[in-house]
Amino acid sequence: MLHAPIIWPDAVTFLAAEAPEEPVFIFAPAALKAQARRFLDGFPGLTTYAVKANAHPQVLATLLEAGVRAFDVASPDEIETVLSLAPDARLHYHNPVKSRAELAFAHRRGVRVFACDSAAELAKMREVLPPEGVQISVRFRMPAKGAAYDFGAKFGAEPEAAARLLAEAAAAGFAPALTFHPGTQCLNPDAWRIYIEAAARIARMAGVRLAQLNVGGGFPARRTGDEAFALEDYFAAIAEAARRAFGDQVPPLACEPGRAMAADCMSVATRVKLVREDGAVFLNDGIYGALAEAPLLGSATRMRVLDPSGRPRRGAPRPRVVFGPTCDSVDRLPGEPALPDDLAEGDFVLFEGLGAYGMATVTRFNGYGPTRVATVSAPRPV
Ligand SMILES: Cc1ncc(COP(=O)(O)O)c(C=O)c1O
Repeated sequence: MLHAPIIWPDAVTFLAAEAPEEPVFIFAPAALKAQARRFLDGFPGLTTYAVKANAHPQVLATLLEAGVRAFDVASPDEIETVLSLAPDARLHYHNPVKSRAELAFAHRRGVRVFACDSAAELAKMREVLPPEGVQISVRFRMPAKGAAYDFGAKFGAEPEAAARLLAEAAAAGFAPALTFHPGTQCLNPDAWRIYIEAAARIARMAGVRLAQLNVGGGFPARRTGDEAFALEDYFAAIAEAARRAFGDQVPPLACEPGRAMAADCMSVATRVKLVREDGAVFLNDGIYGALAEAPLLGSATRMRVLDPSGRPRRGAPRPRVVFGPTCDSVDRLPGEPALPDDLAEGDFVLFEGLGAYGMATVTRFNGYGPTRVATVSAPRPV
């Protein structure tokens, strides 16, 4: 049972009223609903939400309210989390590696769509899963560029191997499907074209008609605030590539966005604990908390600084060494983010766009890391 959260009008009202000492996620359900509608209305197929990006019950409940009914899950825990809120949800277990116990559990809980990318995993699945009503999505990889980091380094069969797996899955009586992930924060819509053309070739090589083609997550979120991209351009590129590659036999399409769905619905409000004589800034959250992705993706520039009463700091931007709160020297944001030169102890530093992989990766190392969520009715979290 979810308790109805207090709804603040906006982040500034909350921060000025409560002056929280601990870092807090600011959640704007309206932003999440709007993004869900963009996917549901614009993507040319089924939208499944990649639960790993943010599995907070309020996030899942908001997506359900917006009309999302299908979810990409990666573990038994994610399966249970979704089913506890939506017992009839459609689940894709698209983690390509699952133990036998996890496969059996998922099947018992009603999951009927599973990914694999190797002969060893497929052999395991053939032993554990009855083929009736079960879809196997073979994950393949291509050398397509454009992502912030490349998932092909860990997952995905080469096209020829994918064709063999697809043919074997079909011959064993499973519904044969293909899936790919161009890598997260992929700023190149052409990567999807390359993958979709390859999917058509793989299906031809295997001699099967695809029950589904899942075009992955990877859709980008705004990180610097000035990128020129629109999700709708990605959707159009995918629809066009599918028409060209498959002609009048386009398989049912699915996508599984995590980052692009959830990023903009949450910000993190951190607080300045110390401005040292040398100008270094110590925040009450860092890379072991909501900023875990900063060393991988680079410091985002969507940062705002407010004084303790909620007024924006307007000093000239100045590069700063920024440390997190743990007693560990690795806990530092990459580079030297520009922060106003009148920034002072007690100020709030708000990091925007952390709804995906911000909350999910909080470690609580040293006892730090945000656990609190403040919900706002404003259309955006900050
Ligand atoms: C199988 C699968 N689908 C979807 C996603 C979501 O990707 P993104 O957050 O880049 O949209 C991931 C991320 O790890 C994934 O592994």
